[in-house]
Amino acid sequence: MLAIVQETKENLSSTEERLEINYLDRSYGATTIIDGQDIISGLTQTPKSLPPRYFYDDRGSQLFEQICELPEYYPTRTESWILRQFAGEIAHKTGVCELVELGSGSSTKTRQLLDAYQTLGNGVVYAPIDVSGGILIESAHQLLRDYPTLQIQGLVGTYQQALAQLKPTSLPSRMIFFLGSTLGNLTPQECDRFFCQIVEALDTGEYFLLGVDLQKPKQVLEAAYNDAQGVTAEFNLNMLDHLNQRFAAKFDRKRFEHWAFYNEQLNQIEMHLRCREAHTVCLEALDLQVEFEAGETIKTEISRKFNLEVIQGELQAKGLKPLAVWSDPKQWFGLILSQK
Ligand code: AVI
Repeated sequence: MLAIVQETKENLSSTEERLEINYLDRSYGATTIIDGQDIISGLTQTPKSLPPRYFYDDRGSQLFEQICELPEYYPTRTESWILRQFAGEIAHKTGVCELVELGSGSSTKTRQLLDAYQTLGNGVVYAPIDVSGGILIESAHQLLRDYPTLQIQGLVGTYQQALAQLKPTSLPSRMIFFLGSTLGNLTPQECDRFFCQIVEALDTGEYFLLGVDLQKPKQVLEAAYNDAQGVTAEFNLNMLDHLNQRFAAKFDRKRFEHWAFYNEQLNQIEMHLRCREAHTVCLEALDLQVEFEAGETIKTEISRKFNLEVIQGELQAKGLKPLAVWSDPKQWFGLILSQK
């Protein structure tokens, strides 16, 4: 019995030695948004909008995990398939490097990369970055249990903060990766700024691995954001509950409905909350009253769908030279490895 306790303690201490978590300085990086200011500006504009970051309270994050498992939501499954097939090739192309993941969440897909980099022989250093310290620490502990030599240097903060504060790596190189087509939730201007931040964070010769959802038939796209079980609708409406709780707002979710469609001109899914009847909503903590007309919508998210040639051209123009592209047989999702 004593032996078992001691062994467990040893494992624990070695796990702790392999884990470092840093909370990032919030005043660093791109513009710091004063909490709620972005809501005021979104709801006082015409047409109205709300920033997608407000999807992700605890319930929103759980709903997003459920979305990733839905039969209609192909991106997660397809990207995982590509990673499973090609992680070895990716590791072979970059050689030993520090793995920096932007928006790591539960780090599920990351395991394919960790497995591949482990086979290169050197110890793997993984730097997950996420705004949610809770999820980051929980998944870090699971990874440390499953990968006995892995070193984790987690950073809690936004990716803008993290990119501005990355420390030099002791390994021969570094690869920043951004999976799940989260890039698609940025406007073209935000995307441009984001690529500049990646370039600034990397040294010459270092790598950037990007996962992007590709253009495909409208029916497939619209089904992915209008699932039969209504999980995406719930995810969208949950933003109102989040605002109620966080800003003492009085949104009545029964007066809104989920609306998602593919905008073929802009190659983007747009998610909106459509108001069923005219009414006024008070957001007490923001000292704001918002009037809604029947049928009026609040845009809550864009999810851009990319063309592989175009996005490679954009990377190249920013100084990130595309080295390789991997996709699935239907060409629904793409992974691009580029080098500064
Ligand atoms: C996080 N992001 C890449 C998802 C997407 O597909 O744009 C968010 C999402 N919204 C509705 N379903 C999933």
